[in-house]
Amino acid sequence: MAFFKKKKHQQLSEEIVLPEHIGIIMDGNGRWAKKRKLPRSAGHNAGGKVFRTISRYCSDIGIKYLTVYAFSTENWKRPEEEINALMKLFKDYLEEALMDFKDDSIVVRFIGDKTHFSDELKALMIENEEGSKDRDGMVLNIAMNYGSRDEIVRAVKSISNDVKNNKLSVDSIDEKLISDNLYTAGQPDPDLIIRPSGEYRISNFMLWQAAYTEFVIMNKLWPDFTTDDLDEAIKIFNNRNRRFGGV
Ligand code: FPP
Repeated sequence: MAFFKKKKHQQLSEEIVLPEHIGIIMDGNGRWAKKRKLPRSAGHNAGGKVFRTISRYCSDIGIKYLTVYAFSTENWKRPEEEINALMKLFKDYLEEALMDFKDDSIVVRFIGDKTHFSDELKALMIENEEGSKDRDGMVLNIAMNYGSRDEIVRAVKSISNDVKNNKLSVDSIDEKLISDNLYTAGQPDPDLIIRPSGEYRISNFMLWQAAYTEFVIMNKLWPDFTTDDLDEAIKIFNNRNRRFGGV
């Protein structure tokens, strides 16, 4: 954790301790659209704009890692029309993301199983990762076709294969080895996970990594979420007494 250094940001005071890694479950797009009698895709489009604003803001205030939940392994169950709209939104965004985040030096990473996406989307994901990997700013993990249980199963399979091929002994399996086999290998666990839209669920997001994460549930739908709400979540986080199982 680093002490907040005021940059473009006025709301948080110097004494605020910034979480090093924030996770966000971007929830409530559908309800936002329904309230306005709009198709669900309109909610996702509005949510996409908020995602850009919040990503840039996190980078501005000095957050080191931001992980956003954009599409889960379970989201394929949604109607085809909604999935198509989301894929188009991802494509449009990824076509601009490299340039969009250039001045902020944001490193773009994708966590999740890329194989299910179209060749075009896969190529854009790789282009974004390759094109931003040498930057020195905030790491932005975009979770797409991500499921934490799936991530853990992959880690177990990879470790088991290493044991089978005598590259690893069973005794050398420890928590660090499991963390090192997750998509977030080498990154700190999230200090804070924010879930807008008032739902008290983790929805298969960073189950292993969230062992000691502070949760902040906010009663705002994601498309209505603002930088002030992010400040508020950071302030709530600052009032928590993190003991990590100690006293
Ligand atoms: C959950 O709300 C949201 C999603 C499944 C999609 C999240 C995607 C975005 C915010 C788009 C931005 C992402 C990128 C990378 C451009 P929901 O649809 O489940 O809402 P509901 O619970 O109100 O129905």
